Amino acid sequence: MSKSTLSSKHLLGIKHITKDDIDLIFDTADNFKQVINRPIKKVPSLRDVTIANLFFENSTRTRISFELAEKRLSADVVNFSASTSSVGKGETLLDTVNNILSMKVDMVVMRHPAPGAHVFLANHIEANIINAGDGTHEHPTQALLDAYSIRERFGKLKGKKVAIIGDILHSRVALSNIFCLKKMGAKVTVCGPPTLIPKYIQDLNVRVSYNIRETLEWCDVANVLRIQLERQDIKYIPSLREYSLNFGVNLELLEQLKKEIIIMHPGPMNRGVEISSDVADSDQAIILDQVENGVAVRMAVLYLLASNVSNES
Ligand code: CP
Repeated sequence: MSKSTLSSKHLLGIKHITKDDIDLIFDTADNFKQVINRPIKKVPSLRDVTIANLFFENSTRTRISFELAEKRLSADVVNFSASTSSVGKGETLLDTVNNILSMKVDMVVMRHPAPGAHVFLANHIEANIINAGDGTHEHPTQALLDAYSIRERFGKLKGKKVAIIGDILHSRVALSNIFCLKKMGAKVTVCGPPTLIPKYIQDLNVRVSYNIRETLEWCDVANVLRIQLERQDIKYIPSLREYSLNFGVNLELLEQLKKEIIIMHPGPMNRGVEISSDVADSDQAIILDQVENGVAVRMAVLYLLASNVSNES
């Protein structure tokens, strides 16, 4: 019998969940994708559940996607942005969250610049916690929506060859994608300049390539990441222009391949740096499908965690 509950009461990272959990999230997301494509996009599943979206870092896609997912499940939603809060007056993370929870909040969706902030919080509060990105560590719902989008295209993930190209060192999307894709039986190559590939990568059972042509020739799917200049305190590459010349994905490169591959990007894109506009806007790119799928996948995660309040993490 297939399982109907997740193995954890939180979604702290893909590292902490199982293949069965991911299958359950995808099957549930299939149902919610049908719901959000109906004229009436709302279901009462999370009526009387209150969710706080706590964003201590900037976001466009993730914040709006979670808010829409919550509203389509009929949850009550409160939004918190660090830049307009009392965090600037010196309030700690735990005090901030405990004050919000004392207003009877059931679930917390949080983006925070500190890797591990969600694990810390999970040790101190009772509410369900969903990691919406913790520094350079994990971004589990992004990885789930990326993998879901590949599964939607190919019907399965097992055996599919996925290249993750760009700034792997500073990318929470890369780490969560690697955990998720490997759990689902996909093959992964990471590609970028040696300075932007972490030394521990070999331990994750992925191929490493420093050659964009070879990587694109190998893969079925290329997930292109931006250079995270805001997380770089030293220079890892000589210039963005040189990066673009050596690792940028452009139409000329794609036209030389023997097969058509799928292009993904988690956003935000830096057009003309890691990806050219003609590729980003081409039929091969499923970038906006990823965003659409994000709402259904996040509805699935919220719904499953809300019905899993009694499970230990
Ligand atoms: N993909 C992603 O996390 O985008 P945002 O930073 O806009 O949320």
